[in-house]
Amino acid sequence: MIKNALFFLLLGVGVFFSSISQADPWKEMPSEQLEKTLSDKFHGGEYSSKGADSCLACHKKSDAVMALFDGVHGDMNNPQSPMAGLQCEACHGPMGKHNRGGKEPMISFGADSSLDAASQNSVCLGCHQSTELMSWHGSAHNLDEVACASCHKVHAAKDPAFDKLAINASCTACHTKEGADLHKRSSHPFKWDQMTCIDCHNPHGAPGEAALKQFSVNDTCFECHSEKRGPFLWEHAPVTENCANCHNPHGGVNESLTKARVPQLCQQCHADDGHGSRVDAGQSAFNAGKSCLNCHSQVHGSNHPAGKMLAR
Ligand code: HEC
Ligand code: HEC
Ligand code: HEC
Ligand code: HEC
Ligand code: HEC
Ligand code: HEC
Ligand code: HEC
Ligand code: HEC
Ligand code: HEC
Ligand code: HEC
Repeated sequence: MIKNALFFLLLGVGVFFSSISQADPWKEMPSEQLEKTLSDKFHGGEYSSKGADSCLACHKKSDAVMALFDGVHGDMNNPQSPMAGLQCEACHGPMGKHNRGGKEPMISFGADSSLDAASQNSVCLGCHQSTELMSWHGSAHNLDEVACASCHKVHAAKDPAFDKLAINASCTACHTKEGADLHKRSSHPFKWDQMTCIDCHNPHGAPGEAALKQFSVNDTCFECHSEKRGPFLWEHAPVTENCANCHNPHGGVNESLTKARVPQLCQQCHADDGHGSRVDAGQSAFNAGKSCLNCHSQVHGSNHPAGKMLAR
C-alpha cells in the first residue's frame, strides 16, 4: 500500500482537468483553482482514517456504488484487493476535504469524468501490469485516449467485458463502421454473438497490425481456417500475402465476405492478363455461375500436379 500512496503523490503532479462535467457540483470552480486543489490534495495525501466507512456515510444510498462489493474489487478477503488497503481511496484518491460541503472533487472515471483518460488509466495501471496489458502503452486505444472504464465496470457483480453476449455491442458502440459491416449479408457468425471481436483482436493492443492477437492477418485466419494454410504446390500470390486482399473479415454485401464480386474481384489484378479481362454479354463460362471460379476453382492454392492455373 506504500506503493499506492507514493503512486498518488506522483499522480498529483501530472493531474490535469481538461473540462468539468455538468454533473459536478464544483463546476463553478475555475479550472486553475480546481487543478491546484487536486494537486495540493494529492500532495497532502489526506486519506480518511476510516476508509470506506467514511465514504459510505454519504454514498451508501446509491445502489451503483454498493455494487462494488459484489465484484472482485470489493472482495474483503483478497490481500491484493483495494479493500485490503486504501479501499475506495485506492481508486478515487485521498478524500481530503471532499466530505466538507462538497468543496473538493474526487477522481472520477468513465465518459462523464472531467479527468483525461491517461490520468484515469494510471490509477488502474498502478495495480494492473500483467502480461495481458503488455502492449497497452503503444496501442491505438491508449494513444487515442480510450479509458479502461469505457470497457470495464468495477462497481458491478460482473464486469460486462467478460460477458460474451455484451462484447460486440460494447465495441461497436464506438466502431460503428465495423458494427454496420457485421450486419451485412455475408459475415462471420457475429449476429448471435457466437463470435466476438476479441476472437481476433486484443482490446489492450498487440505487437502486430490492427491489434490482432496473432502477429499477421493470415495467422489470425489460420487459427480457424487451417485448411487454407498450405503449403500448396501452386500458390496464389495474394492469398499467401494477405487474406484481406480479397476478404473483409467484418462482413460485406458479397458472398463469402469478398470485397467485390467475381469477376470484378479478380479483374482488380488480372485485367491485362489475357482472357482475365474478358467480359461476355451472353451466357458463357465467364459470366454465368461462378464466373472465373467455374474453371479456377482452387483460388486459395492447388496441390494438384496440373494445378498451376488453380483450376483443379
Ligand atoms: C459528506 C458526504 C460525503 C462523503 C463523506 C463522501 N462524499 Fe463523495 N460525494 C459527495 C457529494 C455530495 C457528491 C456530489 C454529488 C454526487 O455525485 O453524488 C460526491 C461525489 C463523489 C464522486 C463523483 C465525482 C464525480 O465527479 O462525479 C465520487 C467518485 C465520490 N464522491 C467518491 C467518494 C469517496 C471515495 C469518498 C470517501 C473517501 C467520498 N466520496 C466521501 C458527498 C460525500
Ligand atoms: C489496489 C489495486 C487495484 C486497483 C487500483 C485496480 N484494481 Fe482491478 N483488480 C485488482 C485485484 C486484486 C483484482 C482481482 C485479480 C485476481 O483475482 O486475479 C482485480 C481484477 C480486475 C479485473 C478482472 C475482473 C474480473 O472480473 O476478473 C479487471 C477487468 C480490473 N481489475 C480492472 C480494473 C480497472 C479498470 C481499474 C481502474 C478503474 C482497476 N482494476 C483498479 C486490484 C486493483
Ligand atoms: C476496448 C475495451 C477495453 C479497454 C479500453 C480495456 N480493456 Fe481490459 N479487457 C477488455 C476485455 C474485452 C477483456 C476480456 C478479455 C478476455 O475475455 O479475453 C479485458 C480483460 C482485462 C483484464 C483481465 C485480464 C485477464 O485476462 O485476466 C484486466 C485486468 C483488464 N482488462 C484491465 C484493463 C485496464 C487496467 C485497462 C486500462 C489500462 C483496460 N483493461 C482497458 C476490454 C478492454
Ligand atoms: C477499483 C477502483 C475503484 C474502487 C476501489 C472504488 N471505485 Fe468507485 N468508481 C470506480 C470506477 C471505475 C467508476 C465508474 C463506474 C464503474 O466503473 O462502475 C466509479 C464510480 C464511482 C462513483 C460514481 C457513481 C455514479 O453514480 O456514477 C462513486 C460515487 C464512487 N465510485 C464511489 C466509490 C466508493 C464510495 C467506493 C468504496 C466503497 C469506491 N467507489 C471504490 C472505481 C473504483
Ligand atoms: C470508447 C470508444 C471505443 C471502444 C468502446 C472501443 N474502441 Fe477500439 N478504438 C477506439 C479508437 C478511438 C481507436 C483509434 C482510432 C480508430 O482506429 O478508429 C480504436 C482503434 C481500434 C482498433 C485498431 C487498432 C490499430 O492498431 O489500428 C481495433 C482493432 C479496435 N479499436 C478494436 C476494438 C475492440 C475489439 C473493442 C471492444 C473490445 C473496441 N475497439 C472498443 C475507440 C474505441
Ligand atoms: C475474424 C477476425 C476478426 C474479427 C472477429 C474482427 N476483426 Fe476487426 N480486423 C480483422 C482484421 C484481419 C483486420 C485488418 C484488416 C485489414 O488489414 O484490412 C481488422 C481491422 C479492424 C480495425 C481497424 C480498421 C482500420 O481501418 O484500420 C478495427 C477498428 C476493427 N477491426 C474492429 C473490429 C470490431 C469492433 C470487431 C467486432 C465487431 C472486429 N473488428 C472483429 C479481423 C477481425
Ligand atoms: C475464431 C475463429 C475464426 C477466425 C479467427 C476466422 N474465421 Fe472465418 N469463419 C469462422 C466461422 C465459424 C465461419 C462460419 C463457418 C460456417 O458457416 O460454416 C467462418 C466463415 C468464413 C468465411 C465464409 C463466409 C461465408 O459467408 O460463407 C470466410 C470467407 C472467412 N471465414 C474468412 C476468414 C478470414 C479472411 C479470416 C481472417 C481475417 C477468418 N475467417 C478468421 C471462424 C473464424
Ligand atoms: C484472390 C482473392 C482471395 C484471397 C486472397 C483469399 N480468398 Fe478466400 N475466397 C475467395 C473467393 C473468391 C471465395 C469464394 C469461393 C467460392 O465461392 O467457391 C473465397 C472463399 C473463402 C472461404 C469460404 C469457402 C471455403 O473455401 O471454405 C474461406 C473460409 C476463405 N475464403 C478463407 C480465406 C483465407 C483464410 C484466406 C487467406 C489465407 C483467403 N481466403 C484469401 C477469394 C480469396
Ligand atoms: C490482389 C491481386 C489479385 C487478385 C484479387 C487475384 N489475383 Fe490471381 N494472381 C495474382 C498474382 C500476383 C498472381 C501471380 C502471377 C504470376 O505469377 O505471374 C496470380 C496468379 C493467378 C493465376 C495463375 C496464373 C499463372 O500464370 O500462374 C490464376 C489462374 C489466377 N491468379 C486467378 C485469379 C482469380 C480467378 C481471381 C479471382 C477469384 C484472382 N486471381 C484474384 C494476383 C491477384
Ligand atoms: C472456361 C474456363 C475458364 C474461365 C471461365 C476463366 N479461365 Fe482463366 N484460364 C483458363 C485456362 C484453361 C487457362 C490456361 C490458359 C493457357 O494455358 O493458355 C487460364 C489462364 C488464366 C490466367 C493465366 C494467364 C493467362 O491468361 O494465360 C489468369 C490470370 C486467368 N486465367 C484469370 C482468369 C480470370 C480473372 C477469369 C474470370 C474473368 C478467368 N480466368 C476465367 C480457363 C478459364
